[in-house]
Parts: sequence; C-alpha cells; structure tokens
Amino acid sequence: MCGIFAYLNHCVPKTRREIFETLVKGLQRLEYRGYDSAGIAVDGPKNGLKDEKNICIIKKRGKVKSLDEELYKKDQMKLDEEIETHFGIAHTRWATHGEPNAVNSHPHRSDKNNEFVVIHNGIITNYKELKKYLVLKGYEFESETDTEVIPKLIKYIYDNRESEDVSFSMLVERVIQQLEGAFALAFKSSHYPGEAVVTRRGSPLLIGVRSEYELSTQHIPIQYNNAPHHPVLHDEAVKNHSCPEGQGATGPQGHLKDEVQMKNNRNRSDSSCGLHSVGDGKAVEYFFASDASAIIEHTNKVIYLEDDDIAAVAEGKLSLHRMIRQAGEEPVRAIQTLQMELQQIMKGNYQAFMQKEIFEQPESIFNTMRGRICFENNTVMLGGLKDHLKEIKRCRRLIVIGCGTSFHAGVATRQILEELTELPVMVELASDFLDRITPVFRDDVCFFISQSGETADTLMALRYCKERGALTVGVTNTVGSSISRETDCGVHINAGPEIGVASTKAYTSQFVALIMFGLMMSEDRISLQKRRLEIINGLRILPELIKKVLELDSKIKTIADELYQQRSLLVMGRGFHYATCLEGALKIKEITYMHSEGILSGELKHGPLALVDNDMPVIMVIMRDSCYIKCHNALQQVTARQGRPIVLCCEDDPDVKKSAYKTIELPQTVDCLQGILSVIPLQLMSFHLAVLRGYDVDYPRNLAKSVTVE
Ligand code: F6R
Repeated sequence: MCGIFAYLNHCVPKTRREIFETLVKGLQRLEYRGYDSAGIAVDGPKNGLKDEKNICIIKKRGKVKSLDEELYKKDQMKLDEEIETHFGIAHTRWATHGEPNAVNSHPHRSDKNNEFVVIHNGIITNYKELKKYLVLKGYEFESETDTEVIPKLIKYIYDNRESEDVSFSMLVERVIQQLEGAFALAFKSSHYPGEAVVTRRGSPLLIGVRSEYELSTQHIPIQYNNAPHHPVLHDEAVKNHSCPEGQGATGPQGHLKDEVQMKNNRNRSDSSCGLHSVGDGKAVEYFFASDASAIIEHTNKVIYLEDDDIAAVAEGKLSLHRMIRQAGEEPVRAIQTLQMELQQIMKGNYQAFMQKEIFEQPESIFNTMRGRICFENNTVMLGGLKDHLKEIKRCRRLIVIGCGTSFHAGVATRQILEELTELPVMVELASDFLDRITPVFRDDVCFFISQSGETADTLMALRYCKERGALTVGVTNTVGSSISRETDCGVHINAGPEIGVASTKAYTSQFVALIMFGLMMSEDRISLQKRRLEIINGLRILPELIKKVLELDSKIKTIADELYQQRSLLVMGRGFHYATCLEGALKIKEITYMHSEGILSGELKHGPLALVDNDMPVIMVIMRDSCYIKCHNALQQVTARQGRPIVLCCEDDPDVKKSAYKTIELPQTVDCLQGILSVIPLQLMSFHLAVLRGYDVDYPRNLAKSVTVE
C-alpha cells in the first residue's frame, strides 16, 4: 500500500544532500506500492541556538519526483553540512484515510516541535477511539489520517512517563499495545537523536545492514520484556465523549487502560547484546524498508522482522525486542543474504516495467520450472511440498484463494487440477471467502496465491484457514513475505521481481506452478500417465511458444491503434479461456481506464449479447479444444448482431478466419496450457492501449502493487 524507507548512518559522515539522495532513491524503488504523495523527516541544520534538537519534515503531494524537487528548493537546509550520525525517515503514500495532500501525507508528527515523527504502512482500525482519547487529553490533530494517532500517542506516553530513563523502544512497545490493525512503523525523535525504532504487525518490514566490519554473527538474539500484554484501549466513556478528565475506564489518572509504570527501563537497549560486530564507535549503516528492492543496492545482508518485533538502533547497535516468548518461538532473527540483483529490478530498454515483464515471460516461466521438472523421466518435484504430499493426497478438497490476477490463476487451473488430483477444487476470492465465513475443515488443503505475499485479504484468509486446522500452502513470488512465512509449506514461483502494478509474468508463473502441483499429485496414477506426458512435453516447449506469441507484438499494436479511442471492450471465451477473458479485461481496465468485461461465452445469451452491435469492440478467444464448437456458435451469435470480433485463435483456422473481423493467430499447445499463450496478446494489447491513451502504464491511478490493507 504505502512504502516505508529509513536510513541511519552511525559514525559514517554524510552530507545532508547525500542523506536526501539515499532517502529519495529508497522511495523511488518503493513507489510502485503507492504514489499519491511522499515525505521525509531529517534533522534540521544546526542553528547555533542552545536547543538544536529540531526535526525538519518535508512533504509533497504527487510522486516522489515532486518531493525530490522540493528538497533542493529549501536552501536553508544546508545541503553540504556533514552529519556523522543521523536517522532519516521517508514515505510514499497510497491514501486510505484522508485525501492525498501534503497534510495527510507522512511523516506525521506529535506536535508543532516535531518531538516524535512517524511513518506508517498499513491501517489502524481503532484510530477513532484513540483519537477521541487523545483529543480529550488536549492533543490537536491536523490530518484526517489514522496514522496521526501514533505520534500523538507516543508523545502522550513520553509526557506521562514515570521515570526519565525510558528507552525509545520501550515507548514504542507501549504504543503498539494500544494499536489494532496492521502496521509497519518507523519512529524518529528529537529526544533520542541518532536513534531509530521500527516495528511491524501485519505489514512487511526488513532491515539491511552495511558495515565495513565483518558481521560476527548470523543471528540477532531477541530480548524479551516479559511484561504482561496490555489490552488495547477500551473506554466506553471516551467513546461517548462524556468522560471527565481523570475518570472512566482509562484509569483514575486518565492513563491508557492498564498502563504500566515505565521505571528503570532506559538501560534495556544499552545492555543489548544486539549485533555483536558493530559496537560503539564503529561505522555502520542501517536501511529499513517495506521490501528488499529498496535495500539491495546498499547491502544484501538483511533481517526480516516478524509481527510485533521491535528493532531499535542506539549508538549504532541494533537490538530486537518482544514482549513475551511464546512456546516454540525461536529467540533469534537470522541475518539473511539476499540473492536478488539490482539489475533484476531495473527497467532496461523497455518503455515500462510492465512491458519488460511481459517480454520476460519465456525466461520467468523457465525459472518457475527449473530444477522441478525432470524431462528425462517425466517427474515433477516441488521441494516445498514434498514432505506434505501424503497429507495433501488424503485431503477432502483443495481450496485455492487469492485476489485479482492471483485469483485468476486459480480459475485458469481449476479444471486441470480437478482432472489431475481427482479432488474437488474450490477457487475463491479472498475477500468474499472471508465475508461468507466459509466452512473450512481440518482435512482441507488451502492454497494462497499471491505475487507479493503480502495482500491483506489473502493473508487474513490464510490465518482464518490456519485457525480451523487446514493445511496451508503458499504460492508466492516474494521470498520472506508474510504469506510464505505463515503457510505450512509452499512453492516460490521464481518469476523474479515484478515492479509494474499490473501483474503479468507472475500470473503465467502461478499458472505453471499450479499445473506442476497437479502433475506431482498424479505421478502414481496409471490412468493419467498419457495426459501427464502430454502436459510435461507441452511445458518443455512452452518458453519457445511464448517467444512466438511475443513476435505478434507489432500486429497487436496495429489493432490497438484502431481501438484506443473506444470506451469499452468486451473479452469473451469459455472453458480453459474463461480465466484469460477475466485477466485480459482486468489488465485493460486497470491500466487503460477503458471499461472492459470478461464474459463467459456460455452466458452470452443470458444478457451480455444485448451489448453487442457494430460499434462495440469484442475480442473472442476460440482455441481448438473441447469448447471449440460452442465458441464457434458464440462467434456466429456475435456476427449475427453486426459485431466485428477480433478473434484469438490457433494458427491456420480457416473457419474462424471466415467469420472474424480480424484474427490473432497463436501456436497451438495442450489445452490446459493454451491459456498461458492466449493471455499474452491481451497483456500486450492493454499495454499498447494505455500508452496510446497517454497513461502511465506502471503506475495506474488509485492502485498500488502491494495491497496490505483490507
Ligand atoms: C492486477 C493485479 C492485482 C493483484 C492483486 C493480488 O494486475 O496485480 O489484481 O493480482 O492485488 O496481489 P498479490 O498477487 O500480490 O496477492
């Protein structure tokens, strides 16, 4: 949803200009997560006055580029001033509460002196309650956001501390006890100069470490506070605006409910055993980000935080804190080495990331299969599922859950999964699945399909199924993502980073991953061997066939030239290609802003045919499979209403050519794989339409790459 980036340099002198550059670069890498406004907070220039603890916040509506321009306009910022130890925070926003403007953008602050400033990705569901409480305590709010309660709350806790010796991380620990919802947060404070505190619950956050000293440890120990968990604020009187100061459920002193005294805690982070190799005075830099693409150019050493972890840096030392150690919980977090290359996330010679990602599909599909299919002896092995295969084979049904494009990958493979696994397969939109409180049983196997691995609805459906005892399987493209970590087992689709907001290569890799699962399940079924062989042979040549489809790009561009001024575009098909229609229509609407609908041709006579006339552009998918005759009938129905269909068909199909207005001819493959080839012309079509209509392909309005709120 939003992107968080923060940078701390300890004993590494940097000019303010360099700090700005690092922060802005980090935001640019995360811009795909949200891009309606951006902001940063850094230490202000020394002004020679006694109290020099001033934090400076700069925010701007629009993309990160506008913020970048704004930063250098501030000549009073003393860009060349060197700062040896400094913590800067930065944010790119995708609005959930409050319109996109500078006031609502992050960082948010505790007060006019900017004592505490915060950036947030996620959503605070109990913010209204907290806001009422804090307003009663005299705090003035300036934005319409849920986030603003957080800096106000930390200041409230700081102002009411019982002892001077309260560590920054302890304050944050108290704050998150009061929060409900999802968050990744970074805190900066003028009371704790050069210190950083970050935390997460339900939204991703990782830390990169760069040090000229060899890291002497592979793990960072967690320090447990062992204090009881304090429930969030429940204060009916506050809710009703009738609580006189100092009374009601918040306690006699007007404190938050169950507030603990914070005595003698200052030393906690000082005594931290933290990152052993970067002791006092040693040079070290830390990068905090919503995902690895913002960190990889600085370091490949990272720590993924888990829900409710609090990471604090004080005097250059990183320490990790949690409230209570749960049974079976590892008391450490590993320092991992990222395998991702920076060039993997660069645009290269393409006009847009989306275009690059469409053209990467021969390779991304190959990578999804690599090391998993043995074409010599026709076996398939998904390492992440191997230990659970017996259990999966015994299950009552498979439930495939996702949102948007990831849901379509489930629709696309449902039929072949039913055929190969001989199990009932339900394909569910995560939000609807939860709305229906769908019955889930211990002997169900639930698949969670997600490119980002962070989609809130899918993640909540995962937790829902886990609570009911089902086996959970992740199919994600992001190593270390919440879904990949919280599922019992899973498959990484290995498509490489997908930056364009419109998902393309992830879809075809999810498609192939699910088919490989079906093949793995059917290995010992004698009656299915012929079918398996046919599919495995189809997969072997799939990358080559995709290359052939990509050669149709200029033809597709010519058709787009004819269509781009239209208001609507219908996409029709059935059987294995119903998903192609849904996915094609989604691509068209999300980046071209044209109205587009994916229509099951079997439903044509039940309503959609009324839309067809000689003005309405229609794309039909008619491939040589068991639905061919029925699709042909639909083609006749469309032409009989003066429709002028553009048909995606197999090479050399004279019958279709006779009736179609135009054809896009695709190489033929096995029926259940054909959908991988038929979706690509629609990906290309949506790209060309969007460019011709003058839109920013990679950043469609109102959308974000990773939807970490419900
Ligand atoms: C459309 C698109 C979205 C995502 C959906 C789920 O092009 O990208 O529909 O597919 O938001 O995202 P993931 O797969 O990250 O869970």
